Amino acid sequence: MHCHEDLVCCLSCGMILSALGYLIHHKMAQTSYGRHMGLPLPKRMVPAAVAWFLQEMPAVLVPLLMLLTSNKASSMGRNLLLGTFCVHYFQRTFVFSLRSRGRPFPLGVMVAAAFFCSLNGSLQGHYLLHCAHFDDDWSADCRYITGLSLFYVGMGINIHSDYILRNLRQQGEVAYRIPTGGLFEYVSGANYLGEIVEWFGFAVATWSLPALAFALFSLSFIGPRAFYHHRFYQEKFKDYPKLRKALIPFVF
Ligand SMILES: NC(=O)c1ccc[n+]([C@@H]2O[C@H](COP(=O)([O-])OP(=O)(O)OC[C@H]3O[C@@H](n4cnc5c(N)ncnc54)[C@H](OP(=O)(O)O)[C@@H]3O)[C@@H](O)[C@H]2O)c1
Repeated sequence: MHCHEDLVCCLSCGMILSALGYLIHHKMAQTSYGRHMGLPLPKRMVPAAVAWFLQEMPAVLVPLLMLLTSNKASSMGRNLLLGTFCVHYFQRTFVFSLRSRGRPFPLGVMVAAAFFCSLNGSLQGHYLLHCAHFDDDWSADCRYITGLSLFYVGMGINIHSDYILRNLRQQGEVAYRIPTGGLFEYVSGANYLGEIVEWFGFAVATWSLPALAFALFSLSFIGPRAFYHHRFYQEKFKDYPKLRKALIPFVF
């Protein structure tokens, strides 16, 4: 398949504009799931494990299908897609989702997230398999090495932090407790910090516009969410650690 350059550029710029739009909009409302669901609750709800499984799965399935059906892709593009994007979404779909102890999830948000994951999976997959050109010595390039290191450090932080959150509850509980340990000692949104580091690492390792667009989208979606989680904790728990920040240790 040849590269649809115009479409890639259009979708990437659209994602960057949506990120900006979301940043402006976030003061009015957070995407309505988890603790930020307003009352009355949406009528159609799905168990959290089912919702996360179904909505995240397209982001691993679509690139994998593209990989299996494209024989002309560069091996670096294939390796990057498999070793970063697919690994992340495999973990999110088959480990994080199925172990979730979150409260039921609104059906509408799940459908929107599944649409986004399909679109983003197609965009990142198409770009890395059919558009990206990597020099033969890209694996020795400092952008590749730094980007991959950031990606895996971020992924480690994200998985460890989600593990801490999951263990704050027994199955069936919906109460919120103060998270402790790992980067939660420094920030309220440790899982979000890990995820943001991950996607900026992916953008550096692939040195691509679609990956940068996704990193910016993630920052604008979960960055404000970390801020509102932080405010929620401060209001709910009088003994919430005073020095803990929202997203960036010691800074914000
Ligand atoms: N790349 C992106 O744009 C993007 C967007 C969204 C999410 N994500 C990733 O998806 C994962 C989940 O996101 P999320 O927004 O659901 O994260 P979250 O609000 O931190 O919640 C994660 C899970 O832990 C539970 N939880 C959170 N804080 C808790 C506490 N203090 N006490 C007890 N349980 C607690 C939540 O339950 P409740 O559901 O009941 O609150 C939920 O099941 C994260 O790793 C995030 O980085 C990525």
